Parts: sequence; C-alpha cells; structure tokens
Amino acid sequence: MLASANPKKVAELSATFLGLGITAPDGSPVELLPRPDSVADVIEDADSFVGNARLKAAALALATAEVAIADDSGLTVDALDGAPGVYSARYAGEGASDDANLQKLLSELDRLADLADPAHPVSRAAQFRCAIVLRWPDGFELCALGSVAGRICEQPAGSAGFGYDPVFVPDLGDGRTFAQMSPEEKQSISHRGEALRNLAAQLGH
Ligand code: IMP
Repeated sequence: MLASANPKKVAELSATFLGLGITAPDGSPVELLPRPDSVADVIEDADSFVGNARLKAAALALATAEVAIADDSGLTVDALDGAPGVYSARYAGEGASDDANLQKLLSELDRLADLADPAHPVSRAAQFRCAIVLRWPDGFELCALGSVAGRICEQPAGSAGFGYDPVFVPDLGDGRTFAQMSPEEKQSISHRGEALRNLAAQLGH
C-alpha cells in the first residue's frame, strides 16, 4: 500500500515496479493500493527526508497491517544552506503553489547575488533528494535513497513535470531543465528513479 491517495503516484509506481522487474514472490505483478481515505495524513515534522518517509510508512503499516511504501523528496540548495529541503512543498507558505515556491527560490538567490562580492558569485548548485521506505507490519524496514545534482537556472523553462522542475538543470543532462524532458528521460536520471532502482536492488532485482 502506498502512503499516498494520489492515483497518478500509484499508477507511476506500479509501472516502475513492472519496468524494474519487481514482482510478488510468485512472479505476479505487485498490486499497489492507494492509501484509503480512512487513514489520515500524518504530520510530516521530521527534519530529514528519511525521517518523513519513515513516519508515513510506519503509520500506514500500523493502521492497515499491509506492507507500506512511502517516499519523501525535495530540493536542497547549497547557497541557502540546504533550504528549502524538507519544506520544499511549503517554501512560500502552507498550501503555496508550485509557482509561488519556485518564484521564492529565485528571489532568494537574486537577493544573495545582490549582496555578493562580484568576484565571488553565488553558487547555484542544488540537489534533488528522495528517500523511500518500505515497511512491513512487523516493523521490518528497507530504506533507499537517491539524489541528482544540478543547478538552479535564472529563468524557468519547460512545462512538463511539477514543483521546481522548470528551474532545475541536472549536471548529467544537456542543459535542459527537468521540465523540458520527457517523463522517461527525467526518471532515468532523477532522485526518485535512483531511489527506486536502489530499492529494487535491495529486493534482489
Ligand atoms: P514529495 O515528498 O514528493 O511530495 O515532494 C515534496 C516537494 O518537493 C514537492 O512539492 C516539490 O516542491 C519538491 N519536489 C520533489 N521532487 C520533485 C521533482 O522531481 N521535481 C520538482 N520538484 C520536486
């Protein structure tokens, strides 16, 4: 059971499991279930991505007695001492839109650039990070991490993806932002893709 009620996340993860060859012990496809409405959202108040993924997976496994999977992810920016980090979804305030969060990030970097010595320009280095926790009802857990390094560009570009994708240019790419890539291209280098591949390896795939 996935610690998200979002059908898109359920479909994406089911497809990824199939693609990575992750199956049930008898070889049949893993049947991934969305979190039922009866299980409330947990308060994600840990200070790390792993901590928040553990909170979500543990609460779901306890409430449903199913094997639970939870992910938590976000953006860390070097010049901002790792912000927005675990606050990525609400950087511009509780319930803020993706666009408001992204505009706040650009204006924070502009503010630092205005204050900086021109001989030492502000670094725009950043990383997307993802933690995935798989938890059994008896408390056994597997944890997988993934990250992707890149830089925050000056102007948003592209309309695919979500969140900070329009301002993130991965170092391993060709200069395009994540929002200018197909979902498959993004998944092949993204933090979430790497975490899922690490999880698959721990499951013997
Ligand atoms: P979640 O843990 O997957 O819900 O992600 C938390 C927040 O981190 C999102 O609301 C986005 O702002 C940001 N984020 C995480 N992963 C990505 C990504 O792949 N692209 C863009 N933004 C992301």
